[in-house]
Amino acid sequence: MQNFTFQSPTKFIFGKETELKVGKEVKHHGKKILLHYGGGSIKKSGLYDRVVKALKDENIDFVELSGVQPNPRLSLVKEGIELCRREKVDFILAVGGGSVIDSAKAIAVGVHYDGDVWDFFEGKSKIGTIIPIGVVLTLPATGSEASSGTVITNEEGWYKKSCGHNLMRPRFAIMNPELTYSLPPYQTASGVADIMAHVMERYFTNEKNVDFTDRLCEATLKSMIKNLPIALKNPRDYAARAEIMWAGTIAHNGLLGTGREEDWASHNIEHELSGIYDVTHGAGLAVIFPAWIKYVYKNNMSIFAQFASRVWEVEPDFDHLEVTIETAIEKMKDFFRAAGLPVTLEELNIPDDRLEEMAEKCTENGPVGSLVKLYKEDVLNIYHLAKK
Ligand code: NZQ
Ligand code: ZN
Repeated sequence: MQNFTFQSPTKFIFGKETELKVGKEVKHHGKKILLHYGGGSIKKSGLYDRVVKALKDENIDFVELSGVQPNPRLSLVKEGIELCRREKVDFILAVGGGSVIDSAKAIAVGVHYDGDVWDFFEGKSKIGTIIPIGVVLTLPATGSEASSGTVITNEEGWYKKSCGHNLMRPRFAIMNPELTYSLPPYQTASGVADIMAHVMERYFTNEKNVDFTDRLCEATLKSMIKNLPIALKNPRDYAARAEIMWAGTIAHNGLLGTGREEDWASHNIEHELSGIYDVTHGAGLAVIFPAWIKYVYKNNMSIFAQFASRVWEVEPDFDHLEVTIETAIEKMKDFFRAAGLPVTLEELNIPDDRLEEMAEKCTENGPVGSLVKLYKEDVLNIYHLAKK
């Protein structure tokens, strides 16, 4: 096990009707608030009215910025930065899914920075002062409600890039599983695929003697395999929604990666898909992850065989471990397919003509991944494996 430092300072307020507490929470942190949200789902569900009432009940002064799109855009981030400076905002409340939270984080790092906020995403500048943020979560998927990162798409060139700092972790996250009843099935399933991907990016490591976190990862994956079909069958199943929501946070707050070297190649490879074709992040991962496993598993048969047997309950064939692992890949694809997710680029309607450009962009700052370092040709091979 490697040495590590793990800090997860977010206060989690979990359960039914917890959004009603948002005014009291915000009051601890700021005097002038930016209420940031997406394209309208929170108005349709009535959440917007409840949040506004809770803020008004505490006499909290706020301004609003809506219109965050999935795969959040840099132009709106810049608009938010200007608004926060003009209105002297000292706390941002993100109400929505990962895109809204990420947009809030990017605004928060940009307000007190003199240069272009994109500098942070290109690694040209180090994050310093940041406005604190809080979250009311409506979509369990990204774990952004407790993570240290943000992912933003720059419309100039359609670059999708991330940046991170512990200061970006939200001060609080209000998590009411009932708020996820209104999610369309595709978003529910994509969210779970993203949660599973966050676990797998950490699970597939060359690090030895990490049995405790191996087991935590396996428990998280198995819980998602059990609960996604329940939530899809009955969207108002509180127990299944609650399991998915809490797992989504733990999958990506850093706990499951403690002591391990993490991989992240599949995320980088997927970000090119959502950057150029605007696909839903989790759906892109359902396509890329099985192809990535197929491409790399021979480099560390024992971790993939363990995954096959403990997570997908494949009886190990010790003389032909590749058969065991390939069976697990097929089981994973069947699971995603049964949840209504694509498992090939063809099913995502992504044509062949820009695969080389995506592989080039993905590796322009060097190879991706750590279990196996992947160069442009490798990434291109993975896109080809994912085609059909
Ligand atoms: O915009 P509204 O109207 O709110 O609709 C959203 C959006 O259209 C809708 N939605 C959200 N909650 C809902 C709901 N619809 C009905 N009922 C609800 N309760 O769902 C759509 C998708 O929302 P979005 O926020 O885009 O989804 P998600 O949470 O999956 O976020 C994806 C983004 O997060 C990034 C992804 O790359 C992508 O850009 N990620 C962020 C990470 C992080 N910061 O740590 C890590 C992840 O790996 C990921 O890369
Ligand atoms: Zn993700």
